[in-house]
Amino acid sequence: MQVALKIWRYDSSTGERALREYELDAPEEATLLDCLDIVKDRHDGTLAYRKSCRMMICGSCGMRMDGAAVLACKTRMYEIAQAGHVPVISAMGNLPIVKDLVVDMDPFWEKFKAMKPYLQPGYEEPPEGREHLISQERMNHIHKEALCINCGCCVSECNAMESDPAFRGPQALAKGFRFVGDPRDGATVERLEDYSDQHGIWECTRCYFCNERCPKGVDPRDAIAKLGAEAMARGIDRDMGAKHARWFVRSAETTGWLRETELVPKTQGVVSSITQMKFAMGLAVKGKVPPPFPPHVADRVDEARALHKVVREQGRQGAVGIVQGERALARLEHEVAGEPEGAHGGQGSRDQADVTPGETPTRGKSD
Ligand code: SF4
Ligand code: SF4
Ligand code: FES
Repeated sequence: MQVALKIWRYDSSTGERALREYELDAPEEATLLDCLDIVKDRHDGTLAYRKSCRMMICGSCGMRMDGAAVLACKTRMYEIAQAGHVPVISAMGNLPIVKDLVVDMDPFWEKFKAMKPYLQPGYEEPPEGREHLISQERMNHIHKEALCINCGCCVSECNAMESDPAFRGPQALAKGFRFVGDPRDGATVERLEDYSDQHGIWECTRCYFCNERCPKGVDPRDAIAKLGAEAMARGIDRDMGAKHARWFVRSAETTGWLRETELVPKTQGVVSSITQMKFAMGLAVKGKVPPPFPPHVADRVDEARALHKVVREQGRQGAVGIVQGERALARLEHEVAGEPEGAHGGQGSRDQADVTPGETPTRGKSD
């Protein structure tokens, strides 16, 4: 098939930047990475990009296609070429470009290392010759986060990192939940305290671009929500974002609505409210905010209250409730009309989690 690509070329040593177009002949099964290989091999040997495994495992080939991060080795070109579209290929965002499609990953790895991405065991050593056993169901809580291949596609599209490059970012925070959610790790509280800093959990703007672009189904934004829920369940709520979240839960429970007009007095106190009174009055005059009193109560507020009660009674606070919701959503997404529940799987689906090898923990020969 005939494939055309426009590639942003850049040389950081000279600052030269140019959009070059390439036309090439590629097999129908070719991926974007295969096409780049053909360009480099037959058209222009100076093109720079990263690759290694060619099978979505190593995380090396992250780049942008038409402004959105992709793994080049996962991106099939057939339909794009058939449609006559000429995609624009460029380096990932939020990381300095070294040359062409190669970015400097040092800031990425610095943030990764700052998460202490290794197990800090918090269990007693089992007797000699025995394993420390964890149920598969418990390990399924971190199933999605453990799929991360550190490709940086989520970081590339992160809004919060654009405005604050010091934000820890979706990949690092997803890695953080990989360990906070691991029942073997003994540093949960220390981690949550650390991750709740100025550039941590609560700086995320919830744009969900990281979920959208992650090629492995990690859903980093959901991991950040789990970290926030775990922090709040342990009373680590000094950040204003945590205070807002706490108020919204209370507001939904009591009225069935998010009463944003009461957000500032409830979370920032009287003094801050007074300083923002002029702004609030301006919004009220323009009809942008409803009057706070009497609070508007939803018709079927009993349902919101009942839900809140169930969450409390079943101990679904923290990440457990979010994991449960994820599995329910995955089931809905992957169910096909006419097929029995669980007839097929997929990344992040309940089925996949349930058939993860090792459902019954393995035991040593001594058992
Ligand atoms: S949801 Fe948060 S972490 Fe994810 S891309 Fe948006 S701002 Fe970044
Ligand atoms: S969370 Fe997804 S997009 Fe981000 S680094 Fe990991 S695999 Fe890549
Ligand atoms: S080359 Fe390894 S993930 Fe693409």
